[in-house]
Amino acid sequence: MKKRYVVVGLGNRGPSMFVKPLVRQYSDVAELVGICDINPHRLELVRSELDNTVPGFTSFTQMLDEVRCDVVIVATPCGTHHELIIAALDRDLDVITEKALTVDAEKVRAILAAEARSKGRLTVTFNYRYAPYVTALKQLLKDGTIGDIHSVEFHWFLDTLHGADYYRRWHRRKENSGGLLVHKATHHFDLINWVIDAEPQVVFATGRRHFYGDNRPSPSDRCLNCPAGDDCEFHLDLTQNGSLRRLYLDAEKHDGYLRDRCVFSPDINIEDTMHVLATYTKEIQLSYTLTSASPFEGWTMVVNGSKGRLEASEAHSFVPTEERVFAQRVKAAKPLDAAQAAAGMLEPATERTIRVYPLYGGVEVHKVPVDRSAHGGGDSRLREMLFRAHVPDPLGHAADSWAGVLSVLLGVAANESIATGLPVRIADLLGEEFTPTEWRKN
Ligand SMILES: NC(=O)c1ccc[n+]([C@@H]2O[C@H](COP(=O)([O-])OP(=O)(O)OC[C@H]3O[C@@H](n4cnc5c(N)ncnc54)[C@H](O)[C@@H]3O)[C@@H](O)[C@H]2O)c1
Repeated sequence: MKKRYVVVGLGNRGPSMFVKPLVRQYSDVAELVGICDINPHRLELVRSELDNTVPGFTSFTQMLDEVRCDVVIVATPCGTHHELIIAALDRDLDVITEKALTVDAEKVRAILAAEARSKGRLTVTFNYRYAPYVTALKQLLKDGTIGDIHSVEFHWFLDTLHGADYYRRWHRRKENSGGLLVHKATHHFDLINWVIDAEPQVVFATGRRHFYGDNRPSPSDRCLNCPAGDDCEFHLDLTQNGSLRRLYLDAEKHDGYLRDRCVFSPDINIEDTMHVLATYTKEIQLSYTLTSASPFEGWTMVVNGSKGRLEASEAHSFVPTEERVFAQRVKAAKPLDAAQAAAGMLEPATERTIRVYPLYGGVEVHKVPVDRSAHGGGDSRLREMLFRAHVPDPLGHAADSWAGVLSVLLGVAANESIATGLPVRIADLLGEEFTPTEWRKN
C-alpha cells in the first residue's frame, strides 16, 4: 500500500527536495495528500506547478484535521520545527524533518518527550551522509584502516556568495536558526559523529562576528531601493532572478518576509567565525572551525588514528569572475585556479581523493567518482532511503532523532560556551530526564 505524505514549508527546500520528487518520481510508492505553507502566495505557486491536484492549506492543524496521512515532512525554518514535529507525533504520525532538528536545548527535550509518548518515529534528513565521497570515508574508518580513532580536525569554509545568504533572512537571528553552529554545523557535526561512531560529551567554543553584521555601515534595511545599489558587492537584486522574485518578492505582502535584507544590518545576532573543541566517547578529540566569509567554499577533514592518518577534502565552489551570480553582484577575490591551488585542493573534475598515511610510511590513495547532482549526490540517495522500503543500509546512513539531537546539542553547547566562556557538558543540556544511556534503552 502507498504511504500518504503531507509536506509543510514550501519555500526553497520543501518543493524541490520533497514535493516534486514525491509526485514525479515516487508515485508508485507514495501519495502526496496535502501541502501547507502559512504564506498563501507560495502555497498557490506550488499548487499550480502540480496542476492544482494536491489539497493546499495555510494552517498546519487544519491540514492534519482534514487529511488522512501516515507521514509529515517538515521543511519550515528551523526555529518552527519543534511545534510541527510535536503536533504530528502527538497524533502518532511518523515525521521526517529537515535539519537542523531544532535550535535550542529546551526544544530538543520537548521533541524527545513527544517521541517517547508517540507511536510515530522521527527521522532527520542528513543528506550529506549519503554523498559517495563521505560514504567512502565512513567505510574506510569502519574497516579500521587507521586503527582506533584518536582525533578529528575538521574545517568548513563558506564563500561570500553562499555564506552571505545566511545573513539576509531568518538564519541571521539565533532564535530562528540557532546560529551557524546549529543551522549549518548540524550537517558537519552529524558527519563527524557518524563517521567516527562516537558521541560528543564536553564542548568549548569561541565565536565572533568579524565580517557581516555591524562591521560595516548599513545604508538600508534591504537591498531593494538601497542607495548603495550595485556599488555594494552584496547587493541582491530580487527583480533580476525569476525564481527569487516569484518565491519571495511577490509573496512578501502576505507575511513581511524580506529575502534581501542587508548583510551588514545591526539586527544580525549570529557569529560568522567559530572555533569549537570537543571531547567524545572513546576518548576522541575534535577541533572544528567554520568561517562564512571565505574566498572559496569547501571543507577539509583529518582523522588521526592508532595506525595512521586519513585526509579528505572537497572543493565545492569558488567566487566566480562573473559580475552577477544568483542575483548578487560579486567581485572575484582571485581567479578560480589560483584560489584552488592556494587551497591545496586542485583535483580532476571527475574524481575526489581520500589519502591514508600509514603510521610508518607510504600513502594509499582512494579515488571516488564525483557526483555533481545536489549536495554531492546526497539528496537523491537520501530520497531513495526515505521513500522506498527495504533499501539496504549496511553503513547506517538512515538518521534517527538521536543523531539529530546530538548534532544540534553540540552546536547548542558551543553557543552556550561562546556566551559564558566556559566548557559545556552535553548531558547537562539533556537534563536528568534524558541521559544519553537512558534514552537509548527506550
Ligand atoms: N538539507 C539541506 O541541505 C537543506 C538545504 C536548504 C534548507 N534546508 C532546511 O530546510 C528548511 C527550510 O529552509 P528554506 O531555505 O526552504 O526556507 P524558506 O524560508 O525558503 O522556506 C520556509 C517556508 O516555510 C514557511 N513557513 C514558515 N513557518 C511556517 C509554519 N509555521 N507553517 C507552515 N509554513 C511555514 C514559509 O512561509 C516559507 O515558505 C530549514 O529547516 C532548512 O534548514 C536544508
